[in-house]
Order: sequence, then C-alpha cells, then structure tokens
Amino acid sequence: MSVLLALQAVQRSFLMGGEYIGALDNINLIVETNDYLALTGTSGSGKSTLMNILGCLDRPTAGRYLFRGTDIAAMSDAQLATLRSREIGFIFQSFNLLARASALQNVMQPLIYQGVRRSERERRARAALAKVGLQHRMEHLPSQLSGGQRQRVAIARALCSSPSLLLADEPTGNLDSTTSAEILALFDELHAEGHTLIIVTHDDNIAARCRRHVRLLDGRIVEAAKSMEDAGV
Ligand SMILES: Nc1ncnc2c1ncn2[C@@H]1O[C@H](COP(=O)(O)OP(=O)(O)O)[C@@H](O)[C@H]1O
Ligand SMILES: [Mg+2]
Repeated sequence: MSVLLALQAVQRSFLMGGEYIGALDNINLIVETNDYLALTGTSGSGKSTLMNILGCLDRPTAGRYLFRGTDIAAMSDAQLATLRSREIGFIFQSFNLLARASALQNVMQPLIYQGVRRSERERRARAALAKVGLQHRMEHLPSQLSGGQRQRVAIARALCSSPSLLLADEPTGNLDSTTSAEILALFDELHAEGHTLIIVTHDDNIAARCRRHVRLLDGRIVEAAKSMEDAGV
C-alpha cells in the first residue's frame, strides 16, 4: 500500500466577527491507495471543512497536506484546480447534474476542461456509464431518471477522469434504503477494483461497511484506525 494523502497537524480556522473560530484542530490522517474510509461526526464537527481540504477546495490555516507527497501549500490555485480535476472525483448528496444535459453529456463534461478530444470523451463516458449499469440510459435527461440512476450518473462522471480519489459527501442522503444499498454495493465494487474512497456520512451502517472509520468531534479526530507512525510517515 502506498500513501496517497497525508495530513500533518492540520488546523483550519475562520475569522468571524474579529475572532478566530477553530473548525479543525491538529488533524493527523493518512489515506493509502485503495483505502475505504468513512468520515463521521455530528453537525458542526468539521466534516465539510475536512472534506474541502481533502478535496483541495480549501487549504489548511496551519499544518501540512501532502497529496502524493507534494505539499499543496506550494501549489498555485491554478495547479490545485488541475489537481482537483484530474485526481479527485466528487460525489454529492444532491447529485449536482446539469438538468438540460443527457447522462452522457453530464459524464463527458469534466473531460472538456482536461482537453480530452471529443471522440475520446465519448468513449470514456460510455464506458463509465456502462460500468455503473446505465448503458441503456445514456441519452436520458436527469429528470427522466430515478434518484439512484442520477447518483449512478454522478458516479460515472466522477470515474470518467480515472481519479486517484473518490470523495463522496452523504452520497445516499437523498435515496431510499433499497437504492442506497445498491449505491453502497457499487462503492464496494469500486473499492474491490482498487479505487480509493472517502465517504462522509451520518449513517453508522455506511461507516460500518467501510474499511476504516474516522470520527470527528469539535474539529478533532476522536477515533481513528491508523496513526501516522503506523503508516511510517
Ligand atoms: N466558511 C466558514 N466561516 C466561518 N465558520 C465556518 C465556516 N465553515 C465552517 N465553519 C465553522 O466550522 C465548524 C465546522 O463546520 P463544518 O465543517 O461545516 O461541520 P460539519 O460539516 O461537520 O457540519 C462549525 O463551527 C462551523 O460554524
Ligand atoms: Mg457539513
């Protein structure tokens, strides 16, 4: 196993009314390639703040975040945007699909920004949609798809760039239990194929089926499976 992500003494605070409010405090976390990690915690515990840092949408106020060994503090905003689009596949509770675009167009879209030529975009998008079981729904609009199918489109879109990390924020939050189980089975399959997944969730059943569970409380990790020392960092 190789180390994909390393957070070392990460802090994030926000300036609010002249005062610094700490959202994350001394976060140490190693994520290895092919990890399958659940991130839980009550509302306000810092999950979104940590997700934003892991997803390179935000930077730590103090401490280091190494992505494949490179400190993101040394990267420009443009370099971070490139890293995000190539290395990270985001999956959201509300799917975040383009309403007027077909499933195929939705999945192809991120590849436009990566300069992938059209025929190759389409080839990859069709393969990703087939992978999530939507080969017969490629031309459908999001409004013509069920919630579970919409989330599958979003997962295909995330997979399309062959990212090194899949980051899901309450991915089953808008789905019924049967559909949720199908999406979770798909995550299990992706993990078995070698993908690295981090899932933010309120649901302990989801956390239980991930390989590791990190629990946040008031911006600190209160429960973690593996320390920096164990991972040899
Ligand atoms: N942009 C921000 N500005 C000010 N405070 C913030 C901001 N984002 C988060 N916080 C604060 O940081 C803490 C953690 O928030 P958040 O990461 O959203 O928690 P969670 O996602 O677990 O509900 C909260 O106290 C929240 O008010
Ligand atoms: Mg949140």
